[in-house]
Amino acid sequence: MTAPFIHDTGDGPALLMLHAFPLDASMWDAQVAWLSGRYRCLRPDFWGCGASPVAPGEIGIDGYAATLLEELDRRGIREFAVCGVSMGGYIALALLRAAPARLNALVLANTRAAADDDTARAARAAMVDEVRSGGVEAIVEPMTQRLLCASCREEVHIADPVRGRIRRCRPDGLVSAIQAMADRPDSTQLLADIAAPTLVVCGTADVIVPVEESRAMAAAIPGAALREFEASAHLANLEQPHAFSSTLGSFLDAVGAQPVAGGGGGASGQPTRGGGDDHPAGAGRGA
Ligand code: MLT
Repeated sequence: MTAPFIHDTGDGPALLMLHAFPLDASMWDAQVAWLSGRYRCLRPDFWGCGASPVAPGEIGIDGYAATLLEELDRRGIREFAVCGVSMGGYIALALLRAAPARLNALVLANTRAAADDDTARAARAAMVDEVRSGGVEAIVEPMTQRLLCASCREEVHIADPVRGRIRRCRPDGLVSAIQAMADRPDSTQLLADIAAPTLVVCGTADVIVPVEESRAMAAAIPGAALREFEASAHLANLEQPHAFSSTLGSFLDAVGAQPVAGGGGGASGQPTRGGGDDHPAGAGRGA
């Protein structure tokens, strides 16, 4: 399998940062600026996005995870923290399915554990048709509208880079990512057994993953912390970069991003609702 390009910046415990669809690893720039002084920030561009080639054949979500594990092996990285936004979260859950003991901390942002239902699969099939007939440009505006909250759509410094990231994707890459998402397995059964300290992040204005779904996911993960970003839509890390970076950094620092060693089951970490500061209450497990 052709490897995806992995941007690799910083020193410290490994942090694998998995971007959303249909973007690329540059969506993490603000977090890299914040964290790379103390974490090694590894950001793949998914196949056909950013600097990565299009996958040579069909690659499912579990295939994405397997290839990333190989790439981490090649770098001699055994344990790592993972932060995935949306599609990146689907891959984070696939990593958990494949190699649970290697994850020492987990951040699931604007994502869900459930597989697609028939309606969602039909919408994906329609998007494949749009990309095949109209190219990448066909989804630039509709996706920008869905990904960002109203005020961020008006803010060109946020919205234009989102459009640019979408335009950098290749049509075949988008089609293969859409199919991988449509075919992904249901990960709901994994949640109760997650041993790594976990933070769930969501936006109260997210139309792709409604906040109620994120609350339910957090409640299903033992000891997980929940951080709701008020008025943020699907890309909290771009919409509220300072608060997101601070939340992520505080969580990772608190849990130490240390080896799982005997599993989770920490003492603290009850899900919280809509905290106003930058520190996710309950993120202290394993610290
Ligand atoms: C994403 O942001 O990665 C996608 O919108 C997720 C999805 O379509 O399920």
